[in-house]
Order: sequence, then structure tokens, then C-alpha cells
Amino acid sequence: MPTTNTRSSARTRRNRSADGSTAKSSNGTSSKASVKKSPKSENGSEQGNSQLEKLFTDSLKDIYWAEKALTKALPKMQKKATTDELKAAIEEHLTQTEEQVSRLEQVFELCGKKAQAKKCDAMEGLIKEGESIVEETEDGSMTRDAGIIMAAQKVEHYEIATYGSLVQFAKTLGMEDAAELLEQTLEEEKETDQKLTEIAEGSVNQSAQQEDEEEEDDKEKK
Ligand SMILES: [Fe+2]
Ligand SMILES: [Fe+2]
Repeated sequence: MPTTNTRSSARTRRNRSADGSTAKSSNGTSSKASVKKSPKSENGSEQGNSQLEKLFTDSLKDIYWAEKALTKALPKMQKKATTDELKAAIEEHLTQTEEQVSRLEQVFELCGKKAQAKKCDAMEGLIKEGESIVEETEDGSMTRDAGIIMAAQKVEHYEIATYGSLVQFAKTLGMEDAAELLEQTLEEEKETDQKLTEIAEGSVNQSAQQEDEEEEDDKEKK
């Protein structure tokens, strides 16, 4: 079974890093320290109970809930968007998000755990904020798109921060296969963020501003 292979190879790597390699995560947690805390725990298994492993799996549950919530929120956003360009970008990211959900399920499997979602209050708030922006902007307006892009970028930034840490946690715990899967998602989130910036700066923001000027002109004529 691939899980067994991965676990044993992950443990080999972990032992190697315990020999004194200096892999450090962005949050400063050293692999050496995590190995010291639970030297006998099976990496990622039910028995694994180092504090970093717990933080890793708790964060996985959190982002798993978030990604699943996004598979429901993104189609709604897409319907409300004005331009075809933004609609297409959201649709593409919906497909990626569905893939990200199954990638997370693979990561749970690599940890020897059942995929489990835990409500992510932050993502719930970000999705609600996006819905409010839609309610507060006019149908078919470019301001609507500018607002959706802002809301979507807040989501992407949250995801980038989460996956960035998860990749480093996985590496620190010697789970290279999990790190690789999480890294793929991290790259997709970064690309999406970049694409949204391009759409905003390419036309949407400017058109939203012109929309305001036209509205002002109309008011003056009346
Ligand atoms: Fe995502
Ligand atoms: Fe995303």
C-alpha cells in the first residue's frame, strides 16, 4: 500500500533529519525539536501525538472545511460576477478547489487519518464578507467585479498563509509526500491571486471608476 511506503520513507527522512540536518520551517520550528518531543511516535499515525503533529492535523481539518465551503461559495460568486473574464477565472478556480479537496483527502490518508472537517470561522467570515459585497453592489456593474476580486483575494491570501505553513509543518515532520501535495495547492492559490490582480488592474478597477464618473454626469444632466 502506498501509505505504508510513504510512512516508512517519511520515517527514514525523519531519522535522517534527527541526525542533525537543519531543516527549518518558516515559523522557526526545527525538525530536530519536533523529533525530540515524540521520538517514538509513528509519523502521522493515530499514535503520533507531538504538538506539531496535532497542530498540523487540526489545521488540515480547518482548511478542509474551508475548501469544501468554497466549492459551494464560488459558483454563487461566479453567477453574480459581471465580466466574462472574472466569471472564467472563478470557474477555473472552482475546478482547482475541487481538486484541492481531494488532495487534502490524500494528505489525511498519508497521515493515517480519516478526512475530517472542522469549521473554519475565518473562512466563514471571509465568505460572508464576499456575500455582503455582492449585496451592496449593483447587478451588472464593474464595481461589483472589483468588490468580488477584493473578497476573493482575501480568501486566497488566507489560503496562501495556511498552505505555506502546512507545507513547512509537513517538511518538518518528515512527510515529504504530503508536503508535495500541499505545495501544489499553494502554487495554485498564488497563481489565482496573481490572476485576480491582473484582472483588477487590467480593466475592472478602471471601468469601475468610469462607471462612477458616468453616474455623476447623469446626475448633473438631471
Ligand atoms: Fe483552495
Ligand atoms: Fe483558492
